[in-house]
Amino acid sequence: MSNKVYNFGAGPAMLPEPVMQKIQQEWLDYRGMGVSLIEISHRAKEFVAILDEAQALFRELSGVPENYRILFVHGGARMQFSALPLNLAGRKPKRKCLYFETGNFAKLAAKDASAFCNVEIVASSADTNYDRIPDYDPAVLAEDASYVHLTGNNTLYGTRWNQFPESGEVPLIADMTSEILSRQIDYTKFGVIYAGMQKNLGPSGMAMVIIREDLLGFAGEQTPLLLNYTQAAADNSLTNTTNTFAIYTTKLVLEWLKGEGGVVALEKRNEEKAACLYRVIDASAFYRGVAQPAHRSTMNVSFKLASEELVEKFLQEAGAAGFYALKGHRNVGGIRASIYNPMPLAGVVALADFMREFEKRNG
Ligand SMILES: Cc1ncc(COP(=O)(O)O)c(C=O)c1O
Repeated sequence: MSNKVYNFGAGPAMLPEPVMQKIQQEWLDYRGMGVSLIEISHRAKEFVAILDEAQALFRELSGVPENYRILFVHGGARMQFSALPLNLAGRKPKRKCLYFETGNFAKLAAKDASAFCNVEIVASSADTNYDRIPDYDPAVLAEDASYVHLTGNNTLYGTRWNQFPESGEVPLIADMTSEILSRQIDYTKFGVIYAGMQKNLGPSGMAMVIIREDLLGFAGEQTPLLLNYTQAAADNSLTNTTNTFAIYTTKLVLEWLKGEGGVVALEKRNEEKAACLYRVIDASAFYRGVAQPAHRSTMNVSFKLASEELVEKFLQEAGAAGFYALKGHRNVGGIRASIYNPMPLAGVVALADFMREFEKRNG
């Protein structure tokens, strides 16, 4: 392919090249039908087979138990910030929903939910600009809460939960948008996990919601039909016309992931990738990591340089050297390398070499 770059964008993010090639190959004529996959009905047997296969592959790769439903829903991750209280706040009379505030998306999740329930922030790391997962008193996870919500991986800051809270009877909900299928997880700890699809799964604008069956049935009457998880589960995610292309692409990504050795293999590769960048950062006073070491993510590596001028120079030279979309989020500044599942180790090794060389010339 001409003009090939390594794409470190935070999302929509790079997809595996074999997946893109397969899409291209099947684009005009899906398996001899004479039409494109995006030209057929979401109720056609060919599409329903793709949907079923995507769900089965997700279950196989994640290890999500049979008593969880796997849904494809509209509106990306952010739509779920409202859908969650609309579906679950009614579990308890107080409509009390607990939120861990560990970054901007965690904060937005709580803000959006506050229109529909009584939000309580149980712990926050805002005081250190979200460079860590905060300590908390387990007693805050009181049984009269409808649920407790956390953000598994904080995309802007490059932090993640390395140990999830024991929430007892209170359903634990996790936004896993920027880390879904990047590491092995004990899903039985969670009532709901959800993820916008544009990082480790496929195109933007859709989300996967994995919900324990006993949490269905609590949506209030005012819950819009298309935000109602019970309805989505009853209709196998086909309440209305879904984004067939996004689900098709996700199925291909899941097949790719299986071929790469599944989550076990990817977790190991992701650890190697993050370690490769952090070795450069930790060995230098020139680069400064944003996340506290004990809270580092393997998906987003955010770091600073001494001045805005150096950041600009870094971005400009990195861009010219074939490293795309390294600019940190405007809330954080500096550089962010998003290294989701599809990013090969070679891309990260090349970036680490560039960083060492840039430091030599500018340090
Ligand atoms: C952790 C997290 N949650 C939510 C979102 C919002 O996702 P969407 O744009 O699909 O609504 C993002 C987007 O990057 C994210 O990283």
